[in-house]
Parts: sequence; structure tokens; C-alpha cells
Amino acid sequence: MESVSHNLDRKIVLGIESSCDETAVALVTGGRTILAQRIASQEAEHAPYGGVVPEIAARAHAERLAPMIADVLDDAGMTLADVDAIAATAGPGLIGGVMVGLVSGKALAMAADKPLIAVNHLEGHALSPRLADGDLGFPYLLLLVSGGHCQILSVEGAGKYRRLATTIDDALGEAFDKTAKILGLGYPGGPMVEKLARTGDSTAVPLPRPLKGSKEPHFSFAGLKSAVLRAHESGKYTPANIAASFQAAAVDCLLDRLKKAIAENPPFPALVVAGGVAANGAVRGALEGLAAQHDMRFVAPPLALCTDNAAMIAWAGCERLAHQPDFAGDPLDIKARPRWPLDPEAEVARGAGVKA
Ligand code: KG4
Ligand code: ZN
Repeated sequence: MESVSHNLDRKIVLGIESSCDETAVALVTGGRTILAQRIASQEAEHAPYGGVVPEIAARAHAERLAPMIADVLDDAGMTLADVDAIAATAGPGLIGGVMVGLVSGKALAMAADKPLIAVNHLEGHALSPRLADGDLGFPYLLLLVSGGHCQILSVEGAGKYRRLATTIDDALGEAFDKTAKILGLGYPGGPMVEKLARTGDSTAVPLPRPLKGSKEPHFSFAGLKSAVLRAHESGKYTPANIAASFQAAAVDCLLDRLKKAIAENPPFPALVVAGGVAANGAVRGALEGLAAQHDMRFVAPPLALCTDNAAMIAWAGCERLAHQPDFAGDPLDIKARPRWPLDPEAEVARGAGVKA
């Protein structure tokens, strides 16, 4: 394997992401420059089913990945020889898709004799704010909210995560997607619920705030989702009022759990949000206010870095190179993992992590 010891800012990592329904490839430097990136969404393929169909996703990744890798190298005017390492998502996620991306990464690493970096998709999300913001140092308090996860983490270094809270049932993105489905808004649901919520009254529908004020630190969104269904079936409320009330309830839950985490842990200089739901304006606004109240900096990556992308995977690779100077690459027989907690010591919370 080629040594990876020269100037970190000039290191170039090729990132591959294929864990859900976006096929993505990016070239990122250790100096925080995204040299090129492409994302192919599979929205059209999955829309008729109202959600991601794993077999369709894996096939679409397999068809698109190789030409996209060639295109991204072309966009940057580079060849594989110019790249210092190949970073590929190795989990958690839909296993067929993860395998397609990881195998592609392994093949490139082997063919070009470059180190392979097997990246935890959640680590990509967790570190993405540092790609966007060079001033964000460790530690920070992270709310990681995506289609499969809702966690509060203490991010103490690259590869060093302490989970403070997680959902005991549904992820928040999932609750947004289900709400969209109930209201007949289509897929993907989060952005559509947000858009409709802007035209509704967030106090119109009485909805629960599951686990608000509870002694355990965790989240729960299953009850909120069922309440949305009941409210819709009652015929008493408009979709816009349900969307607005749902979003307000969700934001309330986030704030309550984050306040608890802030109160019960040593002070964090920054409150950071990442993952697909971090694209939500109401969530961002509420967190910004919370950070201000606690004298914390608020950091949210640009929208394109919140939802799934390969720049965050390449960046997680750059972070690994920076923090493990003698890292020679992960073994080429490393396995794809449907589940892969960021904090291996975190206890399993009841019902959590059911969906990867
Ligand atoms: O991080 P991500 O792209 O994929 C996963 O790793 O899960 O997150 C996707 C999730 C979906 O549930 C989607 O509905 C949600 O993020 N999402 C949003 C918004 N944009 C994406 N949820 C609420 N408001 C948004 N604007
Ligand atoms: Zn994600």
C-alpha cells in the first residue's frame, strides 16, 4: 500500500455513498475543498412505492456507480493516480446498496494500489459540519437526525463518539415520511411536510410530545405518528394544520431532549445538527435559538451536505488520515454492515435501530 504521510491539506480522497437511495461520488481534499461531486437520486424509481425498495436501490447503485466515478474524476481533471485514498460507506444502511458501493471502493483501491477507508455512514453525517466549518473543533454536541436515526451524541474526536440519547422507536425522518404518506404528499416526505407546514397553524391540532420531560434521555416518535394518523382520519383538520402541528410537536421534542442533554453534561462550546432532517428550516431555527440561550455556537452544514452525499464520506476519510497518521488502509476483506453503532458502548435502547 502507498504511504499516506505527506501534507494532509493536499490529500485527495474519493468518496462513495450508496447506503440508501442516493448514489453519490465526490473528491474532497484534507483542506476542505470539494473538488467535484455528483449525486444521482433514485426518487423517481421509489416514488411509486411510497418508500425505498432495497432491491431497486441496489440495482440502481450498481448501474450508476462506475460511470459516476469516471465522471467525477473527469470533472476534476484527475485520474485515480491523483487520489490518495478511497473512502466508501461500509454501513449502516440497506445492505445490498452498501455492498455495491463498498465492493466498488475495494476494486478501485486494489486496482490503483490506494488505501481503502471503510466509513460509517453516521460518521459521515457526524463529521460533515467540520467539512463546512473549519472553525468547528472537538468536542461538540451533535443532534443527528436522519431517515434512520435520531441521536444526541458527544463528538469528542474523529472516531470518538459518546451516545447520549437515541430514539426508542422511529427516527424523526421516518416520522416526517410517514406523516407525508398519511397526508398523501408523496415521497420523499420531509421537504413536502415542511413546505405544507408553512401554510398551516401549528396550534390547530392537539398532538402528543412523547417522552417530553421524562427522566430517560431518549426520543420516541411512534406515538406522534399514530396521533397524526388519528387526527387525519377524524376529518376535523386540514392537511396544512396537521403538517404544521406535527412539525411543531417534533421540534418541541427535540428541544426538550437537547435541553436535558445540555443540562446533564459538561458544557459544549457548540451545538451542531446533521443528517437529512437538519435540512428542515423549523428544526434549524429552533436549534439556533436553543444554542443562543446556552451561549453555544450553532453549526449546521449547508443543505446539500445534510442529506446523503459522498462529500461527507470522503471528508470522514480525510479525518481518518489526519487522526491516524500511520493508517495504511482498512483490510480489503472488510464486510458491509447493516448495523454499525457510532458508540459501541451505548446500551441498546428499547426498540431502537430497528430500521438501519
Ligand atoms: O440523511 P438522509 O438523507 O438519509 C438517511 O441516512 O436516512 O435523511 C433522509 C431523511 C428522510 O426521512 C427525509 O424525509 C428527511 O431526511 N428530510 C427532511 C427534510 N429534508 C429531508 N425532513 C424534514 N424536513 C426536511 N426539509
Ligand atoms: Zn444519511
